[in-house]
Amino acid sequence: MEIPGSGMVALTLFLFLSVSVCFSASNSTKESFLQCFYSHSPPSNTTSDVIFSQNSSQYLSILQSSIRNLRFLNASKPQYLVTPDSEAHIQAAVICSKEHGLHVRVRSGGHDYEGLSYISDVPFIIIDLFQMRSISLDIKNEYAWVGGGATLGELYYSIAGSSNLHGFPAGSCPTVGVGGHISGGGFGTIFRKYGLAADNVIDAQIVDVNGNILDRKSMGEDLFWAIRGGGAQSFGVIFSWKVKLVRVPPTVTVFSIGKTLEQGATKLLHKWQTVADKLHQDFFIHVVMGVPSANSNGNKTVRVSFDCLFLGTAERLLSLLQQEDGFPELGVTRDNCTEMSWIQSVLYFAGFSITESSDVLLNRTMSSTQFSKAKSDYVKEPIPESGLEGLYKMLVEEENSILILTPYGGSMSQISSSEIPFPHRSGNLYGIQYILDWAAAEETEKHLGWMRRLYKYMEPYVSKSPRAAYFNYRDLDLGRNNKRHTSYAQAAVWGLKYFNHNFKRLVRVKTSTDPDNFFWNEQSIPVSQSGSTKKGKKE
Ligand SMILES: Cc1cc2nc3c(=O)[nH]c(=O)nc-3n(C[C@H](O)[C@H](O)[C@H](O)COP(=O)(O)OP(=O)(O)OC[C@H]3O[C@@H](n4cnc5c(N)ncnc54)[C@H](O)[C@@H]3O)c2cc1C
Ligand SMILES: *[C@@H]1O[C@H](CO)[C@@H](O)[C@H](O)[C@H]1NC(C)=O
Ligand SMILES: *[C@@H]1O[C@H](CO)[C@@H](O)[C@H](O)[C@H]1NC(C)=O
Ligand SMILES: *[C@@H]1O[C@H](CO)[C@@H](O)[C@H](O)[C@H]1NC(C)=O
Ligand SMILES: *[C@@H]1O[C@H](CO)[C@@H](O)[C@H](O)[C@H]1NC(C)=O
Ligand SMILES: *[C@@H]1O[C@H](CO)[C@@H](O)[C@H](O)[C@H]1NC(C)=O
Ligand SMILES: *[C@@H]1O[C@H](CO)[C@@H](O)[C@H](O)[C@H]1NC(C)=O
Ligand SMILES: *[C@@H]1O[C@H](CO)[C@@H](O)[C@H](O)[C@H]1NC(C)=O
Repeated sequence: MEIPGSGMVALTLFLFLSVSVCFSASNSTKESFLQCFYSHSPPSNTTSDVIFSQNSSQYLSILQSSIRNLRFLNASKPQYLVTPDSEAHIQAAVICSKEHGLHVRVRSGGHDYEGLSYISDVPFIIIDLFQMRSISLDIKNEYAWVGGGATLGELYYSIAGSSNLHGFPAGSCPTVGVGGHISGGGFGTIFRKYGLAADNVIDAQIVDVNGNILDRKSMGEDLFWAIRGGGAQSFGVIFSWKVKLVRVPPTVTVFSIGKTLEQGATKLLHKWQTVADKLHQDFFIHVVMGVPSANSNGNKTVRVSFDCLFLGTAERLLSLLQQEDGFPELGVTRDNCTEMSWIQSVLYFAGFSITESSDVLLNRTMSSTQFSKAKSDYVKEPIPESGLEGLYKMLVEEENSILILTPYGGSMSQISSSEIPFPHRSGNLYGIQYILDWAAAEETEKHLGWMRRLYKYMEPYVSKSPRAAYFNYRDLDLGRNNKRHTSYAQAAVWGLKYFNHNFKRLVRVKTSTDPDNFFWNEQSIPVSQSGSTKKGKKE
């Protein structure tokens, strides 16, 4: 696919896994890593290859298959790609990487905003879980086991195939992987009612730093707490989640109302800030702010779209919304509402037509891959109109800038802020995600500069001490670890933003489960230097 303006080919390659691989034996370290890997793997199997060296003809297509941000297309590459089809391959990869001094990155859907699942500046391997994506449902008992490399789309598709009364509360983008998403929190259109994806995890299977397989019972409640929102990459490799299915009504309703500034967007936006978190938890009305192309007289204007998912019929939606404590100013009518099934609402929020077959949710290829940068904030007090005016001025400077304002409240305010590591619960009106895409490599610095100015501009209007951020909207501008040895104080700079008071407990869990900091990345949980909580592991 051509990326407009760059003449570059987006690498959206389909993977064929049955071709055999040839390995070069020219480097003895590599050879012995391979020998180690094979000796720890199940008896070799000619129909399924699970390790690829840089010389393999499939290496590049597999590596690039889930790179979602062109900023990282040419970054340093792993010595090996391991694509396990059973947990034994994960165990082998962990044990042998440790033995051969190779670093490990784990990839599920590859959506990490800073590419941390597939790039590293020290010699490394990638464990890519895309072959481990089986999903088994037990509708009667309302749970599912989901492979660590499955996508949200695959999960939604399979639930809807078995029940029209069940769903799962997670993100809207179907290509996002459950590995990163659930372990970092995970919110979507029904989270005001059911909580985060991570709030609905009831068990998990993980390969730990010693190559052991643990489940909830054997890992214990501390580690089980940490991997539900604290980012699994600091603790091991999740190869399966057991999640609770939630009950959705047979009919849900959506609408989308868009207004430009000239059409009175500011007044509505101001009102939205005071009601969106207080509406009935069956409502989710998020705001998408963007800048359409210049209009006929050459002016650029900001467009604000109020997009709703309601867990119920149009009739009930209208009666709640039109009440005084609803949002009558939005002027929603029956004509604006479309009733549909939950799975159709998934298609709708993923940008597909609701008449399309839900098979499209199984497609792991994103419709376009560009250069991008994102940041996040939390808002506790409505932003005054003067603050919004300044924001519009900045937005019109960048044609592809988008802000998504996600309402909190509902169940999110009822769940304790230390229930899992994700701390952003009551007291938050909404979260903001800032996203910027561009198509030309040479513009990268300019756009990053704009994004940082926007973030600076927003400072007075958002949460303070710490200025909170959402871990799944990874942002290395917030700070990064020094290779493997990072002090608590250094990591706390970004750690408190993502996890607030839960950061300390994450450090304790990390210190007791991975005292040598084998599983690290630029924003992994650091090991406490005092090592006071070590549990009989070597120093
Ligand atoms: C287009 C797009 C839309 C998004 N929409 C939403 C949304 O609606 N709601 C929301 O909450 N977030 C959303 N996100 C953010 C998303 O939740 C995070 O980027 C998430 O971490 C992606 O998970 P992944 O498995 O696809 O990514 P990866 O890049 O594969 O992984 C992300 C991190 O998790 C680690 N990891 C992945 N799998 C495992 C595993 N099995 N075991 C241990 N560690 C693992 C990786 O090493 C990396 O550190 C979106 C992101 C994008 C790019
Ligand atoms: C790839 O193969 C070439 C020659 O066939 C060899 O020189 C090179 O070392 C190999 N590289 C790796 C990473 O194995
Ligand atoms: C083997 O590869 C590693 C990592 O690329 C390199 O540091 C080392 O020098 C290589 N050894 C030989 C004998 O080529
Ligand atoms: C061999 O490959 C088949 C098909 O991919 C798979 O079902 C089986 O588990 C594999 N066996 C081993 C020992 O890896
Ligand atoms: C990656 O490198 C190739 C070859 O050097 C170059 O043509 C291409 O523009 C680079 N792509 C990106 C996204 O930087
Ligand atoms: C909402 O419905 C009214 C008619 O009831 C219509 O005039 C208006 O264009 C609709 N708005 C949208 C965004 O569809
Ligand atoms: C649109 O542009 C014209 C001419 O440049 C200007 O006079 C007018 O005020 C602009 N309108 C808005 C709404 O900014
Ligand atoms: C998957 O999506 C991509 C991007 O939208 C598209 O180009 C491709 O044709 C789709 N593949 C299938 C099998 O539908």
